[in-house]
Amino acid sequence: MPVSLAEKPADEFAEAGRAGPRKLTILYGTESGNCQALAQSLAEQTREVGLAPTVTDMADYKPRLLKTEQDLLIITSTYGEGDPPQRAAGFFEFIEGRKAPSLPDLRFAVLALGDSAYEFFCEAGKKLDRRFEELGAERLLDRADCDIDFEEPATAWRKAVVAKLGEQAGGAAKASISPLQHGVATAPASAAARSYDKQHPFQAAVIENIVLSGRGASKEIRHLEVSLSGSDLSYEPGDALGVLANNDPALVDEVMAKLALDGATPVSLKAGETTLAQALTRHVEITTATPRFLDHWAKLSAAAELARLQAVDQTEERNAFLRGHQIIDIIRRFPVPGLDAGEFVSGLRPLQPRLYSIASSLAAAPEEAHLTVSVVRYDLNGDRRSGVASGHLADRAEPEAVLPVYVHANPHFRLPQDDRPIIMIGAGTGVAPYRAFLQEREVLGNGGPSWLVFGDRNFRSDFLYQAEWQRLMKDGVLTRMDVAFSRDRGVKKYVQHRLLEKAADIFAWLEEGANIYVCGDAANMAPDVHQTLATIIETQGNLSPGAAADYLRGLQRDERYQRDVY
Ligand code: 2AM
Repeated sequence: MPVSLAEKPADEFAEAGRAGPRKLTILYGTESGNCQALAQSLAEQTREVGLAPTVTDMADYKPRLLKTEQDLLIITSTYGEGDPPQRAAGFFEFIEGRKAPSLPDLRFAVLALGDSAYEFFCEAGKKLDRRFEELGAERLLDRADCDIDFEEPATAWRKAVVAKLGEQAGGAAKASISPLQHGVATAPASAAARSYDKQHPFQAAVIENIVLSGRGASKEIRHLEVSLSGSDLSYEPGDALGVLANNDPALVDEVMAKLALDGATPVSLKAGETTLAQALTRHVEITTATPRFLDHWAKLSAAAELARLQAVDQTEERNAFLRGHQIIDIIRRFPVPGLDAGEFVSGLRPLQPRLYSIASSLAAAPEEAHLTVSVVRYDLNGDRRSGVASGHLADRAEPEAVLPVYVHANPHFRLPQDDRPIIMIGAGTGVAPYRAFLQEREVLGNGGPSWLVFGDRNFRSDFLYQAEWQRLMKDGVLTRMDVAFSRDRGVKKYVQHRLLEKAADIFAWLEEGANIYVCGDAANMAPDVHQTLATIIETQGNLSPGAAADYLRGLQRDERYQRDVY
């Protein structure tokens, strides 16, 4: 049964008082760094009310410590089909498993981040919130579920939780809580990158934009170079570039035409006053329809079909409808005459920046950042459509165009400090950061052995940066390279098949202290490669499946096995 502080007898209170404030731990699960930045600013706020929090990444947390916790604040995001951030998977496994202890003395609260365009919105946070209650812990505050524009609800939740803890911490609680100044946006990525972020991007000039994939390729892959000159921006190999793309102007025009709205109409957004045309171009998402937009439109249009989809038992049908309809399709099918511009915009989500792994090293290309971009194009309801950011980069980022960008640090995808060997596994554009790694090692001249395992569809059209790898091999910067082209022959060959063929060498490299990196698709490639690595360790090391899993977990804990997957 949950036991709250308030229910304890008076003498226990005195005991607790003498022992000082309750122990406070802030635990975060992070993929892109948002939850980490939120955890850090939450810690700062709790310090201002006299508390002494410990901030820990779930990836580094020893679940055995749970029994010793008193107040636990959890911040986690959700990926794909309701999955936790990858590096937090071990923590989730433990807490959801049979070995999880009962926690009657614990108080907890959960802040969940997610994307409402996905079916399992904030599922990772919901799971922890349910599970901690099941384990007997007391909920300090209701969970908050935040969409991609999480800043405001996350700030409100932090404020509420700090107030709650502050009340109980006693006198120091009166210290002021400064509201937004610790917001995520200002969390420094690195000292030099501090001045630019998604709210204040650097206007970078495009230097080069070429198609990398060959003739007849089934996907369009581009190589972009942007100039950071004049910005003082710096980054490390492994970091990403945040790109603030615009919506397709043709789509913006069609939306305004269909709604019979004038682009010059003033509208107000959280960011300030602007015109409708500017808002639809730069500030809000006008492609993917979210359940909230559907709900908004159902009310505005009063269409019976949309109203029916709102019923609770229509989840499956609603999801199917949303898969087949973007915002423009809904506007076309269910017109709303005389709609107010502000009313329309209020149903839309802010347009989010997109992150691209940087494919260059500042050592080799000073004041530049290179990107490897796979252009998303597909047909829907009779139109050829493109991804927002990749479409912008492909169609509207010619040399000399200006692109608003910022550096997004990726501290969990880093070259080793020493000259230990590295194994780099990349599928498709997942090869990008390895170009940065090898450029860095070449220029600094301090690298050990390196092994690249690259996979893509066809040898003739999709061997990205082929000539560069060959030169790096010739010059001894790249030691080994294996490739897997999945669509050249009848039987699919993927990167993990190459790993398995070279199992003895992979294991020998690991035993010699190699770091191993995986970059590319998160849904299938990364879990399959993970499974293959487990198999290799099990067979080559003569280990049980459990011991092989421990070996891999150990590599992860020591930051020798790092992933950058999306
Ligand atoms: P496919 O599209 O032919 O199935 C980059 O997209 C490369 O990753 C492609 O060759 C793609 O193959 C491959 N790929 C797809 N699923 C994968 C998986 N589960 N594991 C490894 N590679 C995969």
